Amino acid sequence: GDESDLVARPPVVTVMGHVDHGKTKLLDALRRSNVVAGEAGGITQHIGAYQIDTVVDENERKITFIDTPGHEAFTAMRARGAKATDIAVLVVAADDGVMPQTIEALNHALAADVPIVVAVNKVDKEGADPTKVRGQLTEYGLVPEEYGGDTMFVDVSATQRLGLDALQEAIILTADASLDLRANDSMDAQGVAVEAHLDKGRGPVATVLVQRGTLRVGDSIVCGPAYGRVRALIDDNGNTLDEALPSTPVQVLGLTAVPGAGDSFLVVNDDRMARQIAERRESRLRMAAQASGAR
Ligand code: GTP
Ligand code: NA
Ligand code: MG
Repeated sequence: GDESDLVARPPVVTVMGHVDHGKTKLLDALRRSNVVAGEAGGITQHIGAYQIDTVVDENERKITFIDTPGHEAFTAMRARGAKATDIAVLVVAADDGVMPQTIEALNHALAADVPIVVAVNKVDKEGADPTKVRGQLTEYGLVPEEYGGDTMFVDVSATQRLGLDALQEAIILTADASLDLRANDSMDAQGVAVEAHLDKGRGPVATVLVQRGTLRVGDSIVCGPAYGRVRALIDDNGNTLDEALPSTPVQVLGLTAVPGAGDSFLVVNDDRMARQIAERRESRLRMAAQASGAR
């Protein structure tokens, strides 16, 4: 499409950082939800995607968040998260300071060439030292604005709900200052799967992020080696939707198989074309697997 088809879309923000530094809790605080309570061992094991409404400078704005696990076993998910994103929020617990997955996450964000906002979390805790965190990250090239650099640092407490407005403002300011966040919403939808699983009752369920176009119930889609007709779209609050606009994370029902996290999706003309594309992808994957097995 041409320039005139472009409309503003919310920033997609990936939340990254060391294990247990409070990424999910911070998103819970922003969403007023409680995802942490439902996690096995309090460890995030998949990528979650949410959208919140906020008001900055009296303007209603939306922010899409992608939550990633901090556990060392989930490097690939952090890399994937960084790729789908416009802005990275690096969460660092003020009592723990910079840790190995803080640096790994930082490197993924730098590799993806996205602006970084630092959320210095757990400032309510005894032994919290937000100044030390600023000093540590300065050594890695993230120099706080208040020291003359260009990285916004925001002190927050997810549990005490401190600094939440300032964090949302920092994200919107960063988006407005450095990014051109527009997308064509009239074309067939394209995007990426951030998480997928097989649900006993509902079959394959994929959480996708719509990046361009509008995804609608009834669309024929291909997602990695999976395909199907969109039977239902469900938002992060469990509400069914008729359509999902750019930067919207949404659960898709109706796929024939479970796609991989990170697989791209696109809407095609009809079911037959969807199946053909999916089968071609599938056989390409099979050949690649055979080739690497033969080596
Ligand atoms: P992974 O997904 O496993 O990497 O962890 P995470 O970064 O999502 O951390 P999570 O949100 O699971 O929080 C870890 C623990 O820190 C939980 O017990 C939270 O309640 C606690 N926590 C998070 N934020 C704060 C905070 O601001 N202050 C205090 N005191 N505790 C916090
Ligand atoms: Na955790
Ligand atoms: Mg988590």
